[in-house]
Amino acid sequence: MKKMMIALLLLTAPASVLAGGEHSCGKIDCYKAKTGLDDKASLQRGVKLFVNYCMGCHSARFMSYQRMAKDLDLSHEMVLQNLMFTDGNIGDYMTISMTEKDAKKWFGTPPPDLSLVARSRGTDWLYTYLKTFYIDEKRPFGVNNLTFSDVGMPHVFAGLEGMKKAIFRTVEEKQGSETSKISVFDKFETVSEGSMSPARYDQAVLDLVNFLDYTGEPAKLVRYGVGVKVVLFLIILLIPAYLMKKEFWKDIH
Ligand code: HEC
Repeated sequence: MKKMMIALLLLTAPASVLAGGEHSCGKIDCYKAKTGLDDKASLQRGVKLFVNYCMGCHSARFMSYQRMAKDLDLSHEMVLQNLMFTDGNIGDYMTISMTEKDAKKWFGTPPPDLSLVARSRGTDWLYTYLKTFYIDEKRPFGVNNLTFSDVGMPHVFAGLEGMKKAIFRTVEEKQGSETSKISVFDKFETVSEGSMSPARYDQAVLDLVNFLDYTGEPAKLVRYGVGVKVVLFLIILLIPAYLMKKEFWKDIH
């Protein structure tokens, strides 16, 4: 029995080790994004936010509407009517009409495709990024970001989250014999409230990050399901194996 338990633990260990991964969140420690690909309702809310708030500028060109509809249990009619704003086909990919040339002209840096951003940046990074926009009059859009300094993106969720100031404090840092003064982030101060409470805004950002995690690797959703089934199967298999062992050894003792 003990050996079997150890074997089971070993089987499931690599997944938990691989799930980690460190990404730095700039001037702040990353917040933890508690997302779950098994939460279909969250993914459905996430795609809604994505098409309404992000697809003005960003595409997810590796994701087709059809595939997304199937994975997230959405009907084709629902997707065509509510999530596609152009006369498209359900088989289309989630692309946008802004050309790279225009994007460069308007933003300096073109908004990158977000299909794989959860893989390159990590979900904690994305969650932290979307929660750390602050007022900075020196920037073209009037905001800066603690996670991505001098980012060329406006705070698209300002209406939902509201606007906040970042308060920095100066600390002395010793480096050998020299001391230098550096400014570190202290706290946020709300300047104007948005339409969502902080808790609801958190959930909205989590839903969106969850969706981006899914677009990064839709196969994960399938694998996640298979993984759970395999572990369940192994656990169920333990019962007859244990009973059989007892049966075999009964006469020997
Ligand atoms: C008005 C246009 C616009 C909208 C709308 C917009 N973004 Fe952006 N976004 C940008 C631009 C421009 C950049 C590039 C910024 C840079 O590199 O300085 C960017 C960069 C990013 C990055 C950093 C990517 C990287 O790895 O460098 C992420 C993540 C991101 N956007 C997520 C989002 C999400 C999520 C939404 C929807 C909630 C969104 N954006 C809506 C314009 C936009």
